[in-house]
Amino acid sequence: MAKGSQLFLCVLALVAATTAAADLPGFIERYGRTFWTEGSEFLFNGFNAYWLMGDAASPYSNGSKVTALFEEAAAAGLTVCRTWAFYDGYSNDSLQVTPGVYHEQVFKGLDFVIAEARKKGIRLILSLVNNYKDYGGRPQYVDWARRAGLAVPSDDDFYTHDAWVQEMATFLKSIDRKHLLGVGLEGFYGSSTPDKVKLYNPNAVQIGVDFIEVHKVNEIDYATVHAYPDFWLKGQSEVNKTEFVKQWLWNHWKDSMEVLGKPFMLGEFGKTKKDPGYSEQIRNDFYSTVYDSIYSISKDGHKTFTGGLLWQLFVKGMESYYDGFEIILSQDASATALILNQSKKMGELAGAA
Ligand SMILES: *[C@@H]1O[C@H](CO)[C@@H](O)[C@H](O)[C@H]1NC(C)=O
Ligand SMILES: *[C@@H]1O[C@H](CO)[C@@H](O)[C@H](O)[C@H]1NC(C)=O
Ligand SMILES: *[C@@H]1O[C@H](CO)[C@@H](O)[C@H](O)[C@H]1NC(C)=O
Ligand SMILES: *[C@@H]1O[C@H](CO)[C@@H](O)[C@H](O)[C@H]1NC(C)=O
Repeated sequence: MAKGSQLFLCVLALVAATTAAADLPGFIERYGRTFWTEGSEFLFNGFNAYWLMGDAASPYSNGSKVTALFEEAAAAGLTVCRTWAFYDGYSNDSLQVTPGVYHEQVFKGLDFVIAEARKKGIRLILSLVNNYKDYGGRPQYVDWARRAGLAVPSDDDFYTHDAWVQEMATFLKSIDRKHLLGVGLEGFYGSSTPDKVKLYNPNAVQIGVDFIEVHKVNEIDYATVHAYPDFWLKGQSEVNKTEFVKQWLWNHWKDSMEVLGKPFMLGEFGKTKKDPGYSEQIRNDFYSTVYDSIYSISKDGHKTFTGGLLWQLFVKGMESYYDGFEIILSQDASATALILNQSKKMGELAGAA
């Protein structure tokens, strides 16, 4: 991994109901390049909300924000939420305080999030570790390793790309064969495909791990990328950013089909208000482009582009969390209309012959 890279690597589990009960939905399963559940293909429109476990576990919270978020999301037809099931480090609010030692209160917060999501028919993708330093992440694991006397010369030596993914994936599948596993990376091409680095990486920059190599790991069930043209093509025109995103999605979907043979999803995308060119119209146009790409590739591609997760939703009264990408459905009629439209289209496509 490149030093100082902005890769966001995490192991993901597409979680369904965890106990058997008549009225609960079944697990999502993978058949070849598609997701299935209960005899039909599964497609979705979804969102990120990293903050749920922390809010639910906070002594200053009664869980009302988590409940409100799932209510608003379900009303917009969103059926998958990606959220943090990690917080590593010595802190009052962390989940894992030291290796293998957990705060029970924070686990209870996570339980609450899972229970509330289930009530609203929303499936979860639980991220299990961060590459960035936020919420502990890779730097925290490196620190723990060093304190335990292991020689870790640089953060990057903690794991090496596909070897680390392989080790983690093998372990997770040994304790749980029912949930699907993904790797939450940005999607940059790497040294296994130098031609694609030049052609398709923004400005031919190589950041993070190799999209192709990492997703070849057999236990990884689906391929995923993120799309942040505001960061990757800083200063470029909206037209250029839009064209880039279309190509980015198309190329990675094609590789997922032809090289990897796995279902594909867009794990994060968004438009930041901090970009100098930002306007609500530009954001909406960007969302439309992304949604149209997902839908049309999925339609022509036999439902193999499974869905997209916008970054990110909050509920009202959370101004201190805002990162520029925030969408508050109850205060944003134009975003809600766009999202609802896409939710309906993906739902109809899933059920179509
Ligand atoms: C939960 O807290 C919110 C304020 O954060 C408050 O408006 C609401 O009434 C509380 N709900 C319950 C059931 O206590
Ligand atoms: C963390 O917990 C300790 C012990 O309960 C308490 O004294 C301290 O104020 C807490 N710190 C924060 C930042 O909440
Ligand atoms: C848009 O992309 C073209 C072709 O890559 C490049 O020549 C041009 O400078 C870009 N324009 C802007 C404003 O970013
Ligand atoms: C909803 O989708 C339809 C059909 O694709 C499109 O014509 C319409 O403009 C969309 N509306 C919104 C608000 O996105």
